[in-house]
Formats: sequence, structure tokens, C-alpha cells
Amino acid sequence: MELEHPDPVRAGRRRRVLITGADGQLGHALRQAFAGDDVLAFSRAEWDVTQPLGDIVPRDGLDLVLHTAAWTDVDGAESDPQGAAAVNVAGTAHAAALKAPLVTFSTDYVFDGRKHSPYVESDGPNPASAYGRTKLHGEAAAGTNAWVVRTSWLFGPTGHNFLRTMLRLAAERDEVSVVGDQRGCPTFVGHLAEAVHVLVDEDRPKGLWHVAAAGDCTWADFAEAIFEETGVECRVRRITTAEFARPAPRPAYSVIRSERADAPLLPHWREGLRACLAEMCR
Ligand SMILES: NC(=O)c1ccc[n+]([C@@H]2O[C@H](COP(=O)([O-])OP(=O)(O)OC[C@H]3O[C@@H](n4cnc5c(N)ncnc54)[C@H](OP(=O)(O)O)[C@@H]3O)[C@@H](O)[C@H]2O)c1
Repeated sequence: MELEHPDPVRAGRRRRVLITGADGQLGHALRQAFAGDDVLAFSRAEWDVTQPLGDIVPRDGLDLVLHTAAWTDVDGAESDPQGAAAVNVAGTAHAAALKAPLVTFSTDYVFDGRKHSPYVESDGPNPASAYGRTKLHGEAAAGTNAWVVRTSWLFGPTGHNFLRTMLRLAAERDEVSVVGDQRGCPTFVGHLAEAVHVLVDEDRPKGLWHVAAAGDCTWADFAEAIFEETGVECRVRRITTAEFARPAPRPAYSVIRSERADAPLLPHWREGLRACLAEMCR
């Protein structure tokens, strides 16, 4: 019997890539970025990651797993931390159990936000929320054959995100109240997906990577930029985190940067906003 070479290119076949959470906003962007590969895109209906995958996919036949499935309801995780952990911790362990190189995604919310300069990979995490704690445990569950990509404030043309919420609210009212004392890096999923492609294709070392848009702003700044770029007439009333009480605490400052010399650099968040809006208009 002739054995297939483990490197798909040398074996003369396309790379086989499994994407979890494929109907989420990052899942969508990764499907586009990896369209040149042989992609198995699994929505939640096709694989609920709280359960092992079983024998649906021949395990030896996967070259890469892009694990985006996650419990992303930050407030909901406070009242059901076990439910969040089943997805974010056990789900990541199940993705790692497929034994292919893994890309898994984590969050700036693993930090407590007390720093005043960007968080880098060597900074100690200290999540303030149940969601942040499950994501941190999920990082450990990914194992050693994984790129653990911490990213921040994702938005894209599909799914639930701040950009789409602002556009919906602006269609209904003249003014929106937005938190002006939390600072982060709004990151366009299309730019993140391209950076993931670089990490994988150039076989950068496995481990922790901070990958977020250049620049930083508050949610209120981001809302104003959205209305400026779209020409939508809507005022932004800046409020404090205390005025906008939510079940889960959020870090006041969660700007992340990479201290790795070979980290992929993303465009500025405002460029990401323009690219996303252009995609939404197509
Ligand atoms: N969104 C952000 O601002 C942000 C910031 C930093 C890091 N991240 C991380 O980036 C990754 C991608 O986030 P995203 O914004 O693309 O999230 P998303 O749009 O909420 O997508 C997550 C996907 O996972 C699915 N899912 C939930 N539970 C599942 C389960 N048990 N089995 C299989 N699929 C399940 C969801 O399906 P349903 O819709 O049916 O529930 C959804 O399609 C996540 O790891 C997230 O923690 C996100």
C-alpha cells in the first residue's frame, strides 16, 4: 500500500481545511480567505462542538482546522458559565482532538483592562468576566499544535456585531447612546482572515499571537466613524460604562498588539470599516 505524503502540496492534492462555526462572522470571512482550499465548512447544525465530531471526517485526511465556533454572548455567559465553558473549553478540546494543526481564536477580554498601554502576548491575563475565563481556559485546551489568535472587537458584513447594530439603530432613531470609556481595536474579519492565512501559509511558529487592527478607539468613536463613512444622520451621545449597566464587566482598556517580530500587521480599523462597508454594498 502506498502512503500519502503528509504535505498536501507534495502529495499533489489541495489542502483539506475544516472550519467550525462556519456561519459566524469570522467563519464567513475564513471561508472566503481559504476558498482556494478544499474546505469543509461546518455550521453549528453540522457539528455542535460541545460533542466530539465522531467519524464524519476521516481524521487522517485533515490538514488544518480553523476553529471559530464559540459562545460569544458575553453577558449570557455570566448566568450560564457552564454552558459557555461547554462550547469555549470542551469545544476547543474537541477541535484539537482532530489531531490536525489548529487555529483557535481568543479575545482581548482575557485581560482586566487596568493597563494603559497595549497588552502584548507576555502580559498576564486576568479575565473579569465568565466569557473571558472560558476563552482563557479554551486557549489551554487548544494544546501545543495550535496557533492561538487573540483578537478584538470583531465586525463584518454578516452576523451580530456593533457595526450592524449601529446601522439598524440609526435607521430607527436620530440619536444613539454609546459607551465612550472603553478602548479597543475594532477588527474587520476580512483582514483577520487574511492574516490567519499568512500565519498558516508561512508556517509561523505555533503558540499565542495577538492579531488586531492598527489604531484604537472607543465604542463611541467607532459609532461616529460608522455614521461619517455611511453618511447616516445620527448623533452619538457618549455615556459611561456605569450608565450602560450590563451583566458582564468589560475591560476599560483592551488594546492588544503583538510583541512578535514576525506578527502579521493588520490595516487601521478605519480602513477595515471602509473595506467592510464596501463589501456590504456589493
Ligand atoms: N465577536 C467579537 O467581537 C470577538 C472578539 C474577540 C474574539 N472573538 C472570538 O473570535 C471567534 C469568532 O467569533 P465571531 O465574532 O465570528 O462569533 P460569532 O459570529 O458569534 O460566530 C460564532 C459561531 O459559533 C457558533 N456556535 C455557537 N455554539 C456552537 C456550538 N456548540 N457548536 C458549534 N458552533 C457553535 C455560532 O452559531 P449560532 O449563531 O447558531 O449560535 C456562530 O455561528 C470566537 O472564538 C470569539 O470568541 C470574537
